Amino acid sequence: MLRSALRRAATRSCASSVSRQKSALVTGGVQGLGEAIARRLAEDGYKVVIADVQDGQMLADEIEGRFVEADVSEPRQVQAAIAEVVATFGSLDALVNLGRNNAGVVGSQQVRLGDYDVEDWKRVIDINLNGVFYGLKYGLAQMAQQETGGSIVNMSSTAGFRGFINLGPYTASKFAIRGMTRAAAVEYGNNNIRVNALAPAACETPLLKGFIENSPNPMMTYNFLAGYHAIPALPQVKDVADACAFLLSDQARYITGHTLPVDAGTLCRVANAPERFN
Ligand SMILES: NC(=O)c1ccc[n+]([C@@H]2O[C@H](COP(=O)([O-])OP(=O)(O)OC[C@H]3O[C@@H](n4cnc5c(N)ncnc54)[C@H](O)[C@@H]3O)[C@@H](O)[C@H]2O)c1
Repeated sequence: MLRSALRRAATRSCASSVSRQKSALVTGGVQGLGEAIARRLAEDGYKVVIADVQDGQMLADEIEGRFVEADVSEPRQVQAAIAEVVATFGSLDALVNLGRNNAGVVGSQQVRLGDYDVEDWKRVIDINLNGVFYGLKYGLAQMAQQETGGSIVNMSSTAGFRGFINLGPYTASKFAIRGMTRAAAVEYGNNNIRVNALAPAACETPLLKGFIENSPNPMMTYNFLAGYHAIPALPQVKDVADACAFLLSDQARYITGHTLPVDAGTLCRVANAPERFN
């Protein structure tokens, strides 16, 4: 048992010194955090495949990667996207499992759980949680067949650590992603597969930037959002991409099962507490 664990550890450290080109699949990679991650991984030398419901061919050409159309809430499409990565590059070395985020998936109704529509609940869970499960299911099965294993990063949120008012299903899905991350890490550590997650706070994505700029008082809106953080600013998409690249890399080869907040310290604060308590 110990000998086999040591052999795997040796393989792991050998793998880190082999300079073969790795493949990475980024789901929901056409815009926002996914785009920043896809660009960063391409800079790091990965062959990047972007899977998204919106056309990502231009971005794929720019980063010399590939684009596949796939809806993460459809298990067969996730399976097909992974099969395409393997058919093209021979293996799936890294998977960034974003799920999706837009007004609909945060939850189209901003109401308390007691008033939440059942169908809307199911839709949020189907995309945010089941979508990440499908990526894990097919990604893990593929990586477990590979000598070299692989590395996965799932996308949680600071909403995966705290109750967010009127965001019940989104919050539930982001907590569950942390749980799946832990379960997968312990189940597949012996297959040389690491599974971690990221928990960003509200980031300055193009979408949020637009929201701030179009608000009646952009400076006040920015300060309001950033005011929840210990560092009074909004993380940039690049900050999340850098953390993702680190977790996927061999520099993090003994880090598995964890959720890394990229939150400007917001989780350290007592939410909504009067200034003197913070
Ligand atoms: N933006 C933030 O501040 C923030 C903070 C914490 C967590 N997150 C998490 O990060 C992830 C991405 O967020 P974002 O703000 O970059 O989102 P975004 O809305 O800017 O981008 C989402 C991407 O996913 C794609 N997409 C939508 N539905 C899809 C589907 N069914 N299948 C495949 N692709 C689909 C979209 O086309 C788009 O390219 C989400 O899981 C979100 O919960 C974001």
